[in-house]
Amino acid sequence: MYDRVYTRIDVTRKYVDEMLLRNSDDVDRRTGYVHLYGVGLAAAIISLKRGHTKEYAELAEMAGLLHDYISYQGMDGPNHAHEGEPIVRKLLEEMGITSVEETEMICSAVYNHSDKNKIHSEFDEIIKDADVMQHWLRNPGEPLFREQERINKLCIEFGFDNFVSENYK
Ligand SMILES: [Fe+2]
Repeated sequence: MYDRVYTRIDVTRKYVDEMLLRNSDDVDRRTGYVHLYGVGLAAAIISLKRGHTKEYAELAEMAGLLHDYISYQGMDGPNHAHEGEPIVRKLLEEMGITSVEETEMICSAVYNHSDKNKIHSEFDEIIKDADVMQHWLRNPGEPLFREQERINKLCIEFGFDNFVSENYK
């Protein structure tokens, strides 16, 4: 037996779980778990693939878990990224597990994640790509209608050669 060390991701998950458990819509709650946990995982994988440290991957996973925090509280909409940022900032202040710089990195990623047609910081781009990756890989056989360019770039980066669009090769 050993004492398990509780990490910052455990703390973040606790807050995310508490929020999701307040959502009484079963389908919306399940979608929230799948999407937020999925984007968190994808953000960690992309960070490591891009040569970042495990601490950086941990921070990216936290941002992924939090990026759509307000969407599952009945506050989803086209402006959810910008409207969600102050709520995530408040949450991070309450958690007290991030430095000032780390809080800014997560808040920037939350704020910018819907602007998929623009390029922001390296950290912001990881969260955008993780968001796209989760949407795509939850159903890889489905035709894609959005974010084809980002998916093509991710496929090339990860060596998923069979998934790169013909007109992109
Ligand atoms: Fe998302």
